[in-house]
Amino acid sequence: MPGRLIVLSNRIPTEGPPSGGLVVALHELLAERGGLWIGAASDFADEPSETFQPVAGEERYEKATFDLTEDEHADYYLGYANSVLWPLCHHRTDLLAMERRYADGYRAVNARVARMLAQIVGPEDRIWVHDYHFLPLALELRRLGVAARVGMFLHIPFPAAADISALTESDEFYQWFAAFDLVGLQTEADVARCLDAYRRHPSGEMLLDGRVKLDGSIFKVRSFPIGIDGKTFADIAKTPPAHDPVHIRADARLILGVDRLDYSKGIPHRFRGFSTYLARRDPCSPRATLLQITPPSRESVMAYQEITRELEALSGRINGQYGEIDWTPIRFVVRSVPRETLVPLYRMASVGLVTPLADGMNLVAKEFVAAQDPDDPGVLVLSRGAGAAEQMTDALIVNPYDAEDVGDAIEKGLTMPLEERRSRHAALMEVVRNTDIFEWGNRFIDALGAVKKPAAQMR
Ligand code: UDP
Ligand code: G6P
Repeated sequence: MPGRLIVLSNRIPTEGPPSGGLVVALHELLAERGGLWIGAASDFADEPSETFQPVAGEERYEKATFDLTEDEHADYYLGYANSVLWPLCHHRTDLLAMERRYADGYRAVNARVARMLAQIVGPEDRIWVHDYHFLPLALELRRLGVAARVGMFLHIPFPAAADISALTESDEFYQWFAAFDLVGLQTEADVARCLDAYRRHPSGEMLLDGRVKLDGSIFKVRSFPIGIDGKTFADIAKTPPAHDPVHIRADARLILGVDRLDYSKGIPHRFRGFSTYLARRDPCSPRATLLQITPPSRESVMAYQEITRELEALSGRINGQYGEIDWTPIRFVVRSVPRETLVPLYRMASVGLVTPLADGMNLVAKEFVAAQDPDDPGVLVLSRGAGAAEQMTDALIVNPYDAEDVGDAIEKGLTMPLEERRSRHAALMEVVRNTDIFEWGNRFIDALGAVKKPAAQMR
């Protein structure tokens, strides 16, 4: 009998709209195919427990949580995951905040979650681990003798070998990935970086069948570009909203940015690009307002506090310089917006501005395209640093570090003739259809099922 699907991710949906690509994507997938989804509880525990807590709900899948103490949350989540691994994987080694206790806390939480999983997993189950919070999980499971297949999908970029060497635990980093049976990455560029890193490792070996060997472990690495439920998205977009989500004057245009408030998203670069556009703009052309929707994220981490202050100051400066009594060029909204509001905003926007410096995929780029009216679509401006740029080549691809390049693309997007907008949109829609979220999940799960089962002995 085929086993069940067990999905593990740090974040699982609780109350309120989800505003991270991982949770949005997995919720849709699990609602469609069922399984057990395990994630961190939202309240802190006094003492760490050794069992999962089932979560009651009306979902079409089961949910359970593991708890974290406040100290574990500080070291494992805020510390190692988000102050070490996140900057490392987003080419920001300058922001690494390393403390020995972060790595210790991270290993300890992973070891505890592995012990709990070992109690419930059957040999035919497939364990699908998501993201950088759980890199040591497969290694820990194998130490406990778990023989089920274990796959990892990394939603964020795979770091370059030179960046990995900035980690104190760089050797462990290689062993962590190698203990999985299948490692899924977003793009071909990620796969190339991963293979390159293992090739340079003194014990790394490329096998003839394409798998990678590191000491006693063999794993397969492939790209699985994540997508969205494009059809449902396009259907929602067709339904007129109950009320106008934002009042834009008939003679004005909307440029939209939607990102967690994160330094990887290139929001200051976007503001500077918009400022360049404003500086050169023909005063007779329609006014364009940049609406930037930015849910706060990881607010206790210093680098996130700094980027928030930088954006407040920058938007204030640009509005002071270019604003008029009846026009504020940048509307900087630091709050999460539910999907029902987001979708009509996407559809109203003339330009979707997506300028991350580095991003695993960027679902907003795909959502923006799916929500457009194919007869009169808006234009996607997309950074070459987003994983999405590998496939979405009909967007206006920009270098986010170059404010003039971004400014020119905004101008081009706002003035693009209808024919060109339609043909670019049709090509981008094809990409959205081809990377459908359900197909993405099924491809990964099938690929995991197809790998040779690991031996049951303990390592
Ligand atoms: N999102 C949302 N409300 C917001 C902002 C974002 O629902 O106010 C959703 C957005 O629609 C997308 C996800 O959050 O599905 C963000 O995913 P993306 O891959 O773009 O970035 P991530 O946050 O994962 O880095
Ligand atoms: C990205 C990461 C996810 C994470 C999400 C939101 O999408 O890949 O793993 O869940 O950001 O971040 P948070 O720290 O709030 O979970």
